[in-house]
Amino acid sequence: MIEKNKSIGIYDSGLGGLSVFKELFNKLKNENYIYFGDTKNLPYGDKKEDELLKIATNIFNIFERMNVKAVVMACNTTSAVVYDKIKDRYNFKIYPIIQNFAKYIASQNYDRIGVFATHSTIKSHAYIKYIKLYKNDINIFEHACPNWVKIVEENSFNDEINQNLIKKDLEELLKFKPQKIILGCTHYPFLLDNLSKYVQRDIFIDPAKCFVNEIINDLTKCDLINEQEKGEITCYVSSSPKSFSKNSKIFVDFDITPKLFNEQEYFVKI
Ligand code: DGL
Repeated sequence: MIEKNKSIGIYDSGLGGLSVFKELFNKLKNENYIYFGDTKNLPYGDKKEDELLKIATNIFNIFERMNVKAVVMACNTTSAVVYDKIKDRYNFKIYPIIQNFAKYIASQNYDRIGVFATHSTIKSHAYIKYIKLYKNDINIFEHACPNWVKIVEENSFNDEINQNLIKKDLEELLKFKPQKIILGCTHYPFLLDNLSKYVQRDIFIDPAKCFVNEIINDLTKCDLINEQEKGEITCYVSSSPKSFSKNSKIFVDFDITPKLFNEQEYFVKI
């Protein structure tokens, strides 16, 4: 049986998942969270399926041993490529971002949608697959942005060369005249200020808001909301805690002091 007082695990390859975590934490402060930034394996976006499966399985096994009640896949790439393969292997709730967001997009009155995402997400066509489960008469134009994750992680979005890369990707997708553009990688919402220099900000959709609402609705429906007054945040990274800590401060305004995760040390201690 899943117990409501257990923690919620949330992960991504690095800083990106914080765009989801920020939304979740602001709406649900009474949960205990364990954020796992897999900085050692960053970036996920150009890895093959077998490698992503290995990486995600390792993280899910860690969360299983931590006895969480739910895992939030704050990562489009693993939601796209490995969710189907691991979804039935665990006894906790699993919330993948793309699958939880697709229904919302399909319910809106759009017939031309653009998607920016990592190379692996685009290659899987997951956004097309899941949106078309609910709405078939929609045109979806996909564009991979292989440099954007690095730009966010290195906090180098103001470099001229990167500004030009971002602008060029944007121009490519705008050729298809999309009504809205989905930021289909959790790192990308952190580029919104830059993106909106070239096109009106409200063309972009960050799936995080809708995703987080879906998570909260499901936890509520399953009577899994923690009833304590205030929860705790624990943050682990698989490498470079110092730079994660420094750069995370640019994106979130609450304390997430990361610790380096050492599997042996952690599980021997508890
Ligand atoms: N932020 C993740 C995603 O949403 C992974 C990006 C990466 O590491 O390439 O896809």
